[in-house]
Amino acid sequence: MEIIRTIDKMQTKSLGLLRSNKTIGLVPTMGFFHEGHLSLMKEAKKDSDIVVTSIFINPLQFGPNEDYEQYPRNEENDIKLAEQAGVDILFMPGVRDMYPRKMMIDMTINERVNVLCGRSRPGHFEGVLTVLSKLFNIILPDKTFFGMKDAQQIAVVNALIHDLNFPNELIALPTVREEDGLAKSSRNVNLSKIERNEAVWLYKALKHGQRLVVDGEKNPAIIEKEVKKIIENKTSGTVDYVELLSYPELQDVSTIDQQVILATAVFFESARLIDNLIFDTDGSLVKHIK
Ligand code: PAJ
Repeated sequence: MEIIRTIDKMQTKSLGLLRSNKTIGLVPTMGFFHEGHLSLMKEAKKDSDIVVTSIFINPLQFGPNEDYEQYPRNEENDIKLAEQAGVDILFMPGVRDMYPRKMMIDMTINERVNVLCGRSRPGHFEGVLTVLSKLFNIILPDKTFFGMKDAQQIAVVNALIHDLNFPNELIALPTVREEDGLAKSSRNVNLSKIERNEAVWLYKALKHGQRLVVDGEKNPAIIEKEVKKIIENKTSGTVDYVELLSYPELQDVSTIDQQVILATAVFFESARLIDNLIFDTDGSLVKHIK
């Protein structure tokens, strides 16, 4: 595995690969790898000649009171895990290389951001799309791999790729979970033991919501209310949101008559966790989204 730390070297490398007709699969990350990240790398390996994984904790997507400083880091271990997952190139640029000065260009997102995490974290997705546009132009991927755990991220990246015509296909892969159902996340290490045990209720509550739909419930408000009640009763966390919306448009629905997302975010003492399920009108889970 080759480690590249500068934009110039990475872009030159990618241009060379494209000229020799190699396909490039990109897995953009902020590091501190777990099975969720590794599943993306392994999948990328299956259908790209060269897999590039980027590790960059992007300051632009963290709000002033968020956990940029506390975001977990372990470069040495990430290098080992990426190598084992079959990654060909690990791209780890520095902050000053990526943002040598304040950006002169800003992203504005007009849709899909006034709900869920976009509403709670103003500027977050603008920061995500800025860094991804840079990574797409540096790494020149044919395909980019994302996890459905961050379903709103997938919805806005899809909009970016279509609106700006990036010659790049987004591949969305299922959320990898702990044995008890908790979605794997780099932030889980910041949970106390008690919080870790409670955190499984995000998933369990969402599953209950989905079950209501399977059993014929069509009213989003009833489902949101029940899911919220379970999380409040079973955890010490504070619910940021529980929302049921159309997917990927992320619009309010008055009844479940199309593919929807049921999503939640919960604040614990030192970590804000998110999870979601995407399902059809009959409540059947959507495992792969396009
Ligand atoms: P990060 O949180 O490191 O996640 C990198 C990728 O791993 C994302 O596509 C995310 O959805 C996926 N992922 C995280 N947990 C997962 C899980 N349990 N199962 C499956 N996939 C999972 O998302 C980001 O970084 C950043 O916003 C980034 C896209 C890199 C831009 O800075």
